[in-house]
Amino acid sequence: MDLGNVVEDIKARLDIVEVLAGYIDLKRAGRNFKALCPFHSEKTPSFVVSPDKQIFHCFGCSAGGDLVTFVMKYENMSFPEAVRALADRAGIRIEEAPAGTSAAGNLRKRLLEMHRDACDFYENELRRNARARDYLRKRGLSDGTIDEFSIGFAPAGNVLLGFLKAKGYAESDMIASGLCKETERGRLDTFRNRVVFPISNIRGEVIAFGGRTIADNARGPKYLNSPETLLFKKSSELFGLNLAKAEIRRRGYAIIMEGYLDVITSHQYGVRNSVAPLGTALTDAQAGRLKALTKKVLLVFDSDDAGIKASERSLSLLYEAGFVAKVLLLPKGDDPDTFLRKHGRDAFQRKFRDVLGLVDFFLGLHGERVDIVRSLLLIISKVPDGIIRSDLTREVSEKTGLSEQFLREELNLLRKNPARIRDDGNRSQPMSAERFLLGVYLSYPEYVDLIRESITPGEIEDPEVRGIFEKLYSSSAAVLGEVAHRLDEHELAVATGAAMGINIDSEEVERNIKDCIRTIRNKRLRRRLRDLELEIRIAEKRGEAHLINNLQDQMNLLIKEGGG
Ligand code: UTP
Ligand code: MN
Repeated sequence: MDLGNVVEDIKARLDIVEVLAGYIDLKRAGRNFKALCPFHSEKTPSFVVSPDKQIFHCFGCSAGGDLVTFVMKYENMSFPEAVRALADRAGIRIEEAPAGTSAAGNLRKRLLEMHRDACDFYENELRRNARARDYLRKRGLSDGTIDEFSIGFAPAGNVLLGFLKAKGYAESDMIASGLCKETERGRLDTFRNRVVFPISNIRGEVIAFGGRTIADNARGPKYLNSPETLLFKKSSELFGLNLAKAEIRRRGYAIIMEGYLDVITSHQYGVRNSVAPLGTALTDAQAGRLKALTKKVLLVFDSDDAGIKASERSLSLLYEAGFVAKVLLLPKGDDPDTFLRKHGRDAFQRKFRDVLGLVDFFLGLHGERVDIVRSLLLIISKVPDGIIRSDLTREVSEKTGLSEQFLREELNLLRKNPARIRDDGNRSQPMSAERFLLGVYLSYPEYVDLIRESITPGEIEDPEVRGIFEKLYSSSAAVLGEVAHRLDEHELAVATGAAMGINIDSEEVERNIKDCIRTIRNKRLRRRLRDLELEIRIAEKRGEAHLINNLQDQMNLLIKEGGG
C-alpha cells in the first residue's frame, strides 16, 4: 500500500488549521495563524501555520512540516502511524497488508502492546491477591476507582517475565520496555511485590508504571517508576492527565498535586482536574503538556518546608511559561489524599478560599523582605504577558507600599537581562537568495517549471538548500505538502522556514525569481573568482608558470561568462 497516495487523499480532505486547532490554541494573524510552539518552551508565539501552503513552521525552534509531520512530532508517531491516524480521521480506508508481512512491526508499537498486556496482567493479579486488595481498601480506594485507574499488582518473583515470554515477546523488547531488567542475577521483573499504577500518555495509552510497596518495612524505595524508555520520559509526563483532560478544559484550570495517591483519591472524591508530576519537581515540558488544555494552574502542597520550596519553584516556572498559578497550602503533614479522606470534599473545596496568588504567597514567606520582593520581581520580569505583568506589578505596589514607578524601573532593569534575547533573536535575519528561491518554488507551483528551466540544483551553494532542490527536482511534486514526507526533519525545517517567509504579489513573482537566480549566479561567480585568485597566488609563490596560465585562462572565461 503506497502511503504517499493516502497522504494526498488526507490533504484533500483535512485542513492543517483544523487539525492543528485540535492540539494547540491557534490565533489568526493576517493570512496565517499563530500559536505558542508545542515543540519548545516559549512565551511569545513564533509558531506559524499557513492555510495557503498547508504547512507550519516555528521561527523559534525551526520545527516545520505539514499536518502529517505535525502529528508525527506531536504524538511521537512513525510516518505510517500518523498517516493511519489521519486517514482514520478523514474517513479514508487503508487496506491493511496481509497478516504476517508486518510481523516485525515497529518497536514503539510492540512496546505499547506489551504495556497493554502487562496492565491487564497486573490487574488480573490484583484480583487474585487479597493482601494487595486489602492495602488499597485501607487506603480508601473504591472498586470503581481501582478500575478507572486500572490499578494492578505486581507479584513477587518474575511472573510478568514468564507471562510476556509465553505471549511471544522477544526478551530484548522486554528489556527495552523497562518492565524487565537485566541484572547480575539474570533478567528480573522491574516491579515485584508492589501495587502498580499505569502511567498513560494524553491519549490514554499505557507507557509506563509506578509501583508502591505494600509492606510497611520493605527494602527499596517506597515508590518506583519505570525507567526512561522509547515510550516514557519521566520529566515530560503528568500522572492522570489522560483522565483529567476533559475536566481541566471544562473547569478552565488544572490542579497539580504531588503524588499518585493524591491524584487518585481526588478523582474519587470528584476533584477530577488533578494531575501530578512523577516524583520530581514540575518541569517546563510538563507545563507544555498542560498548555494545550489551560493556562491556569492551582498547586496543592503540604505547608511544610518542602511544600513551600516546591511552591516557589513551581510558581516561578509556571509564570515564566505564561501560566497564571495559585497555591493552596494544606495543613502541615496533610496531602490531598489524607486531607480528603479525613475531612471530605466539601472541606477541601472550602480550603480553596485560602488560595494564595503569586504576590500573596511570596509576601507571606518568612525571611528578609528585600530578598522576597527581589525574587518576586524576578519572576514578574519573566512573565511574557504584558497585562498580567502590569497587574502583578500594581498588586506588589499596593501590598508593599513601594511605588509602581520604582517597581517598573526595577523590572526594566531585570528585563534587560541578555538571557532573554534567545526567544526571537534570529527572527529578522535576512534570507539568502537561495532560500528565497526555495520558498518561491514551494509557494507558487505555477512557477516551478520556470525555475526548473532556469537553474540546476548543482548551482546552489548552500548544501542544505541544494539537497532539498535535488529531491524536489527528482519528483514531480511541486507543493511542499506532497514532498514533505520525503524530506528529513532538518530539511523540512529549512523548507518550511523558507516557504513561510514568502509573500509576493503575483505580478512580481517572475521578476523575483529572475533576480534571485541572478544573485545566486553572481555570488557563485564571485566566489569562484576568489578561489581562482587564491590558486593563482599559490601557483605564483611556487613558480608554477604553466598552472598560472591555465588558471588565468579559466578566470578570463568566467569573467566573460559572467559579464554576458
Ligand atoms: P510522598 O512520599 O509524598 O508519598 O511522594 P505519597 O504520594 O504521599 O505516597 P503515599 O501516600 O505514602 O502512598 C510523593 C510522590 O513522590 C514520588 C511518587 O511519585 C510519589 O507519589 N516518590 C516518592 C518516588 O518517586 N519515590 C519514592 O520513594 C517516594
Ligand atoms: Mn500520601
